[in-house]
Amino acid sequence: MSDSHNHGPDVGLSSASLALGFASPGDLTPADCGDEILLELRGISKQFGDQRVLDNVDLTLHRGEAVAIIGPSGTGKSTILRIIAGLLSPDEGEIYVQGRRREGLIEDSPDPVGIGMVFQQAALFDSLTVEENVGFLLYQHSKLPAHQIHQIVDDVLDMVGLPGTGKSYPAELSGGMRKRVSFARAIVSNPENPQDRPALLLYDEPTAGLDPIASTVIEDLIRSIKGNNGCSSYLIVTHQDSTIRRTADRVIFLHQGKIQWQGPVTAVDDTDNPFVRQFFSGRIEGPIQLVQ
Ligand SMILES: Nc1ncnc2c1ncn2[C@@H]1O[C@H](COP(=O)(O)OP(=O)(O)OP(=O)(O)O)[C@@H](O)[C@H]1O
Ligand SMILES: [Mg+2]
Repeated sequence: MSDSHNHGPDVGLSSASLALGFASPGDLTPADCGDEILLELRGISKQFGDQRVLDNVDLTLHRGEAVAIIGPSGTGKSTILRIIAGLLSPDEGEIYVQGRRREGLIEDSPDPVGIGMVFQQAALFDSLTVEENVGFLLYQHSKLPAHQIHQIVDDVLDMVGLPGTGKSYPAELSGGMRKRVSFARAIVSNPENPQDRPALLLYDEPTAGLDPIASTVIEDLIRSIKGNNGCSSYLIVTHQDSTIRRTADRVIFLHQGKIQWQGPVTAVDDTDNPFVRQFFSGRIEGPIQLVQ
């Protein structure tokens, strides 16, 4: 494991670092975070047309856990994140957030803790500048003065490796830059209300399309961001080997609607599970068939 797993970027207590949840006084180590179950899925199933994308999936995430969900394309990874975020209803099954059962979607009943999501597609507002995109929620929902929001956004753009891009429009950026802008937008929150920071973050392929160095910057940020409870708890969907190894403690392999394997990230090279072996070797022969 790389040393950078254990600490975040070298940032001081700027307003942006507070907005992102770095270095808050109540920080806990993963061991301190580990007891409470933050999220529990029981028997989750979801079907689109004839296709049963998720088939009776159980999943438990403890506070302070970093879990990667991996598996072939089209296997339901984004679907399970959208269900966890409360954006999509399962057909069957129950979702518990910090012990409380969720009824309906997130808009129907707010969860006891916030859940933030970095979407697979950048989904930026094309008519807004980078600064307006990243600061959108702060401009809309906080009483922070514009100059302070401007400073927070500048600092966050620095952290994702995009200094000086605030005045650009999304169409003027490369795909990888847009991806990092959407990442910045998803993780920024009001430093005056640290309790509003999400306790659980969901990342859907946050490093897809990024070069190896930009990926490392984002992976380190993912490791560093703390939720409102001082713990870093997240689920990350990724196909990228470096991201799996650098951001996850536990790995869940999803395929054909079911969890086919799960274990510590250190076990992915040792397991003889045929799904995991084929996935990491990239072999065409094996139990995973490419669906056209
Ligand atoms: N809203 C929807 N309506 C119909 N089918 C859908 C919908 N959302 C997802 N699907 C289907 O469900 C399956 C799983 O999609 P999902 O986006 O969860 O896959 P994924 O594992 O995230 O794939 P990738 O690695 O390519 O992002 C796919 O076959 C997809 O076509
Ligand atoms: Mg997906």
